[in-house]
Amino acid sequence: MHSFDLYLPTRLVFGRGRVSELPRLMEGRGKRVLIVYGGGSVKRTGLLDRVKAALSGFEVSEFSGIEPNPKIGTIRRAVGLCREKGIEVLLAVGGGSVLDATKAIAAGVSYEGDTWDLVLDHSKIGRALPIFTVLTTAATGSEYDAGGVISNPETDEKLPIMSPALFPVASVMEPEDTFTVPAFQTAAGAADIMSHTFESYIVKDGNELTDGFCEAMLRTVIENAPKAIANPGDEDARASLMMASSFGCCGLLSIGRTPSPWPCHGIEHEVSAWYDITHGEGLAIITPHWMRYTLSPETAYRFAQYGVRVWGLDPKAGEMENARRAIDLTAEFFRKIGLHTRLSELGIDEAHFGDMADHVLKHWWPLGNAFRPIDRDGVIEILRASL
Ligand code: NZQ
Ligand code: ZN
Repeated sequence: MHSFDLYLPTRLVFGRGRVSELPRLMEGRGKRVLIVYGGGSVKRTGLLDRVKAALSGFEVSEFSGIEPNPKIGTIRRAVGLCREKGIEVLLAVGGGSVLDATKAIAAGVSYEGDTWDLVLDHSKIGRALPIFTVLTTAATGSEYDAGGVISNPETDEKLPIMSPALFPVASVMEPEDTFTVPAFQTAAGAADIMSHTFESYIVKDGNELTDGFCEAMLRTVIENAPKAIANPGDEDARASLMMASSFGCCGLLSIGRTPSPWPCHGIEHEVSAWYDITHGEGLAIITPHWMRYTLSPETAYRFAQYGVRVWGLDPKAGEMENARRAIDLTAEFFRKIGLHTRLSELGIDEAHFGDMADHVLKHWWPLGNAFRPIDRDGVIEILRASL
């Protein structure tokens, strides 16, 4: 069994109507609060008004316009606003992009230089403003982890920012706040949760406990994403997806096993950096091709286990047969929930594949440690297969 450190200090406050508890959760952290949100969905749904009503005893300012794949320029402006107003607490209200941006803002305020420095060098992250979140998508796990992913269009980079200082103090998760998430975004979120699970699960070794966590995550998403897409107000389905979201990136799924370099995320972030595509859809396209790249007589046992325990395949069919079938079922699932299956359908060609491969090998965790090691040619092979 591998050693591990698991540190999960964030309080998850889950269930209907919990936004009203924000004042209790934020007590003692300061009165000057900046609410950070995106392009306006939280205004349209009425969530922003509910949050502001709950915070009537606080001095509240707002910063809107965080874009999907949040951009460093927007974050720099928010850092400036925090300084100008003497902000003491940040409250992110939105999806993963808003939460991620808020983490970068929290770190940027107490750093004298440019916030992008902190993305490039996490050791420069010192203190951060306390972060609270109200989550509106089931997808990234940002509500329960210490990281965010920030884009810099000037350099075509999309890179993580990470530090224990960036764990939210508390994340409020009301499943009803996800009823309005459009079908496409629901599907992309489901693919993201599944990918977080595959990144931890499709590695050399497992153990009964965390394999079980991973398999339960996958079965939960496979059962509930189609229900939430067919009936956006299905509270049980939305709640199940929202719960699963939190455990994808927090480290729980990889305890006691070989650490994974998260190859699909490394590669997808490159594609998002160049083409600003939706993260979950990029993963849905790349994942089955990474699986096929990884599959061999030596690795088939892990895919076969996935096929048997998640898709209910018959173990008697044999390891390689079940492994192939499990991968095909994965690709078919992503297609059925309405996601594209080829990068070319998103207007992407191979013009930048070489740059992407060079960048991911330089800036990401070592892909040579993947279940099947991936080198520069391997990255390009997976991307070409995804075209
Ligand atoms: O901007 P608004 O108007 O709020 O609209 C958003 C946005 O257009 C909309 N939306 C969100 N909640 C809604 C809603 N529309 C209606 N009703 C609601 N309740 O959905 C669109 C996408 O939102 P976004 O926040 O971008 O989606 P998601 O939660 O999937 O976040 C994706 C980002 O998170 C990063 C991704 O790379 C990407 O940048 N990730 C963060 C991770 C982390 N912090 O640990 C890990 C992940 O692997 C991922 O990389
Ligand atoms: Zn992801």
